[in-house]
Amino acid sequence: MTPADATTHPLVAYKSDPVRGAVWHDIFAREAPDLRLVDWDPHGEAAQARYLVAWTPPEDLPRAMPRLEALFCIGAGIDHLPVGELPRTVQVVRMVDPNLTASMVEYVVMAVLALHRDLPFYRREQAAGRWTPRPVLPATERRVGIMGLGVLGQAAARAVAGFGFPVRGWSASAKALDGIETFAGDAALGDFLAGTDILVCLLPLTPATRGLLDRALFSRLPPGAALVNAGRGGHVVEADLLAALDGGRLSGAILDVLATEPPPASHPLLAHPLVMATPHVASATQPAGAARQVIRGVRAHLRGEPIAHAIDRSQGY
Ligand code: GLV
Repeated sequence: MTPADATTHPLVAYKSDPVRGAVWHDIFAREAPDLRLVDWDPHGEAAQARYLVAWTPPEDLPRAMPRLEALFCIGAGIDHLPVGELPRTVQVVRMVDPNLTASMVEYVVMAVLALHRDLPFYRREQAAGRWTPRPVLPATERRVGIMGLGVLGQAAARAVAGFGFPVRGWSASAKALDGIETFAGDAALGDFLAGTDILVCLLPLTPATRGLLDRALFSRLPPGAALVNAGRGGHVVEADLLAALDGGRLSGAILDVLATEPPPASHPLLAHPLVMATPHVASATQPAGAARQVIRGVRAHLRGEPIAHAIDRSQGY
């Protein structure tokens, strides 16, 4: 390849898992002959690319990729990316992929049903050799509250509502959603929490949401409420969650994320009888859909159009 190729076939650098990378290369070769996908190599032509696809970008990105114009994150959350270090001209784009959304919806439905049907309690009872039936509550009497009404939160809210649960949603800015009662901003948080029996966190992690799920927030939920966290570990003050579970304020938690991943084997939430934890697997980007989203984004940018799902830096997501 000569340098002219980069002009006629803009370069997209790929820095992620090589096995999934094979699918990316295949999709680009078949569906985007106008672009060229190159694997990350700090000393190779990838460093001159205008576009980067990564979960973990190279260190000192502005220096490593001086021509970078857009960073496509391979996941939904971009909180781990060094956005502040990038020149303001570099766009940062979140992954929105139908498969990623569908997996998250499955996870939330699974977790809400597990909590609705008292699974953490029954697991604890089973471990102790006890047979302790509890009354079965109809879904219509269990209120589910979803924090974060982006693409994932909205899809999860609709799916949960399909089981008959009254669903409410909270987000930083006002959102309207058919059949879902919505609340916005700090002023409405108390009302939202007071009517939430199962709280689902799907918020983006920003300075405003870090540590939001703390003792004060748990104390505004009805006693015996339960928590699903499929957002980020940083949303939860873990010591406060442990205290809320131990004190009976919360009846159970299903956690896909923890503040430190992987957590130490001795992590008290992993060992807690009322916690069910999964290792950050609620949802994952599927390479084919992700590659197509990046192709659409790069082409839009080359036409001088906005890239769908580019973040708003002032909001941090
Ligand atoms: C995973 O957590 C993601 O942000 O896609």
